[in-house]
Amino acid sequence: MSEGERGKPKLRLVRPSETRERADVLPSVATYPSGSFAGLFDLSGRNALIVGGGGGIGGAITHALADYGARIAVADLDRSAAAAIATSCQRNGLPEPIAEELDVTEPRMVANVVAQVDAEMGSIDILINSAGIQIRRPVIDYTPEEFKQIIDVNLAGVFFVTQSVARGMLARGFGRIVTLALFPACSAIRFTRRMRRQRAASRS
Ligand SMILES: NC(=O)c1ccc[n+]([C@@H]2O[C@H](COP(=O)([O-])OP(=O)(O)OC[C@H]3O[C@@H](n4cnc5c(N)ncnc54)[C@H](O)[C@@H]3O)[C@@H](O)[C@H]2O)c1
Repeated sequence: MSEGERGKPKLRLVRPSETRERADVLPSVATYPSGSFAGLFDLSGRNALIVGGGGGIGGAITHALADYGARIAVADLDRSAAAAIATSCQRNGLPEPIAEELDVTEPRMVANVVAQVDAEMGSIDILINSAGIQIRRPVIDYTPEEFKQIIDVNLAGVFFVTQSVARGMLARGFGRIVTLALFPACSAIRFTRRMRRQRAASRS
């Protein structure tokens, strides 16, 4: 079985007419063989790299992937946050999680870290792009440097990491890439007085 085939869920839709047991079910209702969903999220044998895994959402995703059996590598600008998440993701029977310091805006560093993680784990089957920054004030007030910083991390950084990891995935014929983004990336929102108050309250 090829790597590509292995990644496909083994779900088979069963029409009620095919099964005696479900003869009572309305013809329009589909059923699935018992146990179909049990292995759907089984990631044992898979290796996952979570970039920005030291953060809130990235950290939660890292825990979820570990719970489903994936071997974990966390890379983050904040080395100690990456190390803390990696340590807390150690699961029985799985190799020790890897923690790497990474600045996604540095293409050479990205290439080195991806190569290192790839070599240590044997492959990167799952990539989560969760590194990101926000500058929480009206865009009308952004300085050129702040705008450039956002583009460097949230756009160029995602590209460098994805390109670097995708090369190995293409060569192996298998890979899953998930990139996180915030809704306002696609649609402007009004920065209201209520939001200012909420932000101020959450900081105090
Ligand atoms: N918080 C939300 O409400 C929300 C909702 C939807 C999507 N998102 C998106 O999900 C992603 C993660 O959000 P979060 O809430 O976990 O943010 P977070 O700030 O908790 O985590 C982001 C992580 O990215 C890391 N990082 C920043 N710059 C980096 C760089 N140059 N190189 C490597 N790592 C870097 C940070 O150290 C941090 O650990 C972001 O892209 C965010 O826009 C957030």
